[in-house]
Amino acid sequence: MHVGGPVRAPPRSSPHRSLAFASLSTIDDAGAEHVDDQQTAFLETVRRFMDELILIPRPQAETLTPLGELVQDFLQADVTALPLVTEDIPSHRLVDADLALAELDAEPTAVGVTGGQQRDHSSFPELLSNAFARFAPGPVDYISVATSPTTERRVVAVGVRLLTVDGHRVAVLQRNAHPEFGRNSARLEIVAAEDAGAVALLSALRRLMLERSVLRGQVISFSGNDYGPGAAGVDFLPRPQVSAADVVLPDGVLSDIVRHVVGIGLHRDALRAAGRHLKRGVLLYGPPGSGKTLTVRHLLSSTPDTTAVVLAGNSIRFVTEAAELARAMQPAIVVLEDVDLIAEDRNLSHGPQPLLFAMLDALDGLDGDADVAFVLTTNRVEVLEHALADRPGRIDLAVEIPLPDLTARHHLFELYARGLPLSAGAVAEAADAADGVSGAFAKELMRRTVLLAAEQARPVTDDDLRAAVAALLDSRNTLTHQLLGDAGQ
Ligand SMILES: Nc1ncnc2c1ncn2[C@@H]1O[C@H](COP(=O)(O)OP(=O)(O)O)[C@@H](O)[C@H]1O
Ligand SMILES: [Mg+2]
Repeated sequence: MHVGGPVRAPPRSSPHRSLAFASLSTIDDAGAEHVDDQQTAFLETVRRFMDELILIPRPQAETLTPLGELVQDFLQADVTALPLVTEDIPSHRLVDADLALAELDAEPTAVGVTGGQQRDHSSFPELLSNAFARFAPGPVDYISVATSPTTERRVVAVGVRLLTVDGHRVAVLQRNAHPEFGRNSARLEIVAAEDAGAVALLSALRRLMLERSVLRGQVISFSGNDYGPGAAGVDFLPRPQVSAADVVLPDGVLSDIVRHVVGIGLHRDALRAAGRHLKRGVLLYGPPGSGKTLTVRHLLSSTPDTTAVVLAGNSIRFVTEAAELARAMQPAIVVLEDVDLIAEDRNLSHGPQPLLFAMLDALDGLDGDADVAFVLTTNRVEVLEHALADRPGRIDLAVEIPLPDLTARHHLFELYARGLPLSAGAVAEAADAADGVSGAFAKELMRRTVLLAAEQARPVTDDDLRAAVAALLDSRNTLTHQLLGDAGQ
């Protein structure tokens, strides 16, 4: 088979070597008759040469990238030999990590990394030492991230920081989430000259992320995208301003709720000292438009320094993240609006009511010590009764927010007629007539009254109010009427 020379077996386990050997053999097999001795000797020389070439280790200096040189100079250690420590950070906490790292960075040193998409697919060690790509320091990539309802911060999206923490030199690569590349959370990749460096960095990072968090004391909600909870974005909501006088409920109802949610927080030290738990769960139930959301808004208004996470509808799927955040940022309130919707969500592909179980787990999950209040609202308490009664202790106060009785209706109509040139008699007459309607109805009624007058370009009169009452009550059994439960949100 083989022409001339001893057949050399492919050496131990070098794949390159057996490949070179195999391809030469093929030439041999195919063209053996036409190969003379000279050519054979030549081929053998080439083969030896190539074998030698492949076995020569590449000198390390050649594989170190310009970025690797920078980092190696700083760490004063062989970066190719250092372990990598990776810390994933939920997207909504990247801004906190950025603030913490910036604070640890005595002289701001962030440098970017050149290399386009390849950079995004390569780990930090691959950026530092690479036979195929010369990753170099370049401009830092930034993204702009909200830090409150009205402010933003420029946050490093791809950048390397060279830090000294507790006397240890540490290099940190910071990246934002990149769901397109399968990275659903932000990530820190840490290389340190000594293991203690990574430990020191992570503990300082965690402490500062908690202390300096932009989420602390804010009212936030999660807005997800299709990439799952890890990619949750945070929306900052302005804190509502709703005074007790704006909420019309039967005597004692609002104060009971406030005492439970706000009062327990105010007296947390006394309760803790007496060994009492702080975690609390309140369920507000009642027909649509009766003031459940308004009551929640009053609670948020009454707790200005408390972190609040408000989840409604679809975003309730972030309940686990919300509970984790609440624990970290306590004192905190987690609001779960219209929870009957998730209790009824029987998405078969995910098994029955997965969100309901997630929510119940979240309510269970926090220790009693946590100064966290869960406030749930629902139009249809019967859907939840079983789930909540199953394991007591999740909800320790359930309050009905009823439709207003006659006295409350008068109160509501006066409240929403405020500022309009209507006679007290006409407002009272309207309240008498509108039996069984909600607070939301009272608000919408006054809007319609103003609209009727505006359409005729004249000031509001008592007759406009009468006409609006008649029209709205006429729709009593129609969809409009039912929908009024959620008007004006
Ligand atoms: N009890 C109430 N007192 C004062 N206003 C109310 C009351 N109930 C409803 N409203 C008005 O109707 C609007 C919608 O009510 P909302 O609290 O959203 O109802 P729901 O019980 O469905 O959450 C409120 O923003 C408020 O303007
Ligand atoms: Mg509501």
